[in-house]
Formats: sequence, C-alpha cells, structure tokens
Amino acid sequence: MLGTKAVKAALLITVLGFVGLTLSTQASAACNLVSTKDNSPLPVKASDTDTPEAKSFLETCINPYTKAYAADPSLIKAGGKKLFGYNGCSGCHGGKLEGIMAPSLKKNGGQGAYDTRWVYAKNSTDKGMFETIAGGTPGVSGGNMYIWHQSLDGHIGDGLPTDDILKLIAYIRTEYKGDGTKDWLN
Ligand code: HEC
Repeated sequence: MLGTKAVKAALLITVLGFVGLTLSTQASAACNLVSTKDNSPLPVKASDTDTPEAKSFLETCINPYTKAYAADPSLIKAGGKKLFGYNGCSGCHGGKLEGIMAPSLKKNGGQGAYDTRWVYAKNSTDKGMFETIAGGTPGVSGGNMYIWHQSLDGHIGDGLPTDDILKLIAYIRTEYKGDGTKDWLN
C-alpha cells in the first residue's frame, strides 16, 4: 500500500513536471505577433499538423521559405504561386500581383497611391506581412483585407494554415520590384 502511494506521488510529480515543461516551451515559442488592425496581440495558434517551417516561424518570426524561394525559384510555381491563385488572392491583387481592386503587391509603379509602397510599412518584414494576411487590416488604402488564419475568429472560408501564409509571402517577395528596403532578406 505504501508502495502504491509512493508510485502515485511519483506519477503526479512527473505529470506536473511535464505540464510545466510544456508551458515553458510555449512561452518561449512566441514570435509575439500583433494585429495590423489595432496592434493588439494576434493569437495565432500552433497546430499539431503544422510543418517544421511553420513551427520555426512561430518561434523565430523568420519565414524559411523566403530564402528557399530566392535560392531555388523552381519551388515557387507549385508553392506560393499556386496558393495565390487557388485562394483567390489574384482576384483582388491581380494574377501578376499588379493590383486590380486592391493594392499592387509588386510595387513597380502605377496609378494608385500604394502601387509603389506598402500600405503598412511593416509589410517590408515577413513578420509584418504575416500579421497583415493572417489577421486582416483596418482599410487605410480604402478597402480591407480579410482575416485569413484558420485559428483566428472571423476568418474567411476554411481559412489558411500558417504554412500556406508563409509560402504566399515568400512568393510575393520574389515578385517585388519596388525600391524600398528589403527587410525580409535580413
Ligand atoms: C476581396 C479582395 C481581396 C482578396 C481576395 C485578397 N486581398 Fe489582400 N488586400 C486587399 C485590400 C483591399 C488590401 C488593402 C488593405 C488595407 O488598406 O487595409 C489588401 C492588402 C494586402 C496586403 C498588404 C499590401 C500592402 O501594400 O501593404 C497583402 C500582402 C495582401 N493583401 C495579400 C493577400 C493575399 C496573400 C491574399 C490571398 C490569401 C489576399 N491578399 C487576398 C484585398 C484583397
């Protein structure tokens, strides 16, 4: 009987230790995303089905696909480019990212106020652009973006996982023709 108690106590300690470990891992796995709408914390949740790239981004705020696409452009077509058409981004931003009823994402010049620069300056970093696509925007350019991340309340349709948003960003980076800073390469 004494033995059983001791085993139970040991088990409890193990379980508590495990919970503590999990909590501390989560605490350190924070890239501290903030909403483009109002700068409040953006509660994007990690998921069991997240890819290693998605997990890495949520810990470091660095998008591994940006450098991968720059180094090997053959990855783009079946990756971010496909997702851009498949999810209807091209319906508003144009099949060539030139901007139709939404700002150009190429930033190579045009009639619109935001055809040469980002509506939100922070979009020159992958963290900032992730926040814009995942959590939506306040409409500074005259229209606003949906909430796309599947773990956030109010997302459009089925929403998108972290991995898809990262690939979309990496694709948009390969098309950039503006002369602003390329903070995403840092
Ligand atoms: C219904 C139209 C619509 C669709 C579909 C759409 N967007 Fe947007 N997007 C907008 C509008 C409008 C803005 C400008 C937002 C603002 O001013 O707040 C915008 C802004 C952006 C920006 C920031 C641009 C800048 O200059 O700072 C990015 C990046 C972006 N969208 C990516 C995407 C991606 C990726 C998709 C597909 C997953 C997508 N958008 C789908 C309308 C759309």
